[in-house]
Amino acid sequence: MRIIVHKARCQGHARCSAQAPDVFRLDDEGYILPGDIEVGEGEQLLASRGARSCPERALELDRT
Ligand code: F3S
Repeated sequence: MRIIVHKARCQGHARCSAQAPDVFRLDDEGYILPGDIEVGEGEQLLASRGARSCPERALELDRT
């Protein structure tokens, strides 16, 4: 599974990293780092929760 990061939409709510800090890395100002994220087998549940928790819809799940 991959997460497509729409960096421009991020407003720094940090809900994603609260769910899955190992998946969603934030910069020093609390915004998601740019670049899509490859999610390992063991992290998929937390990663999808984190992605869905973003109120700005900045994190798009790609299961293809
Ligand atoms: Fe940004 Fe959404 Fe996470 S606004 S810090 S991607 S919860």
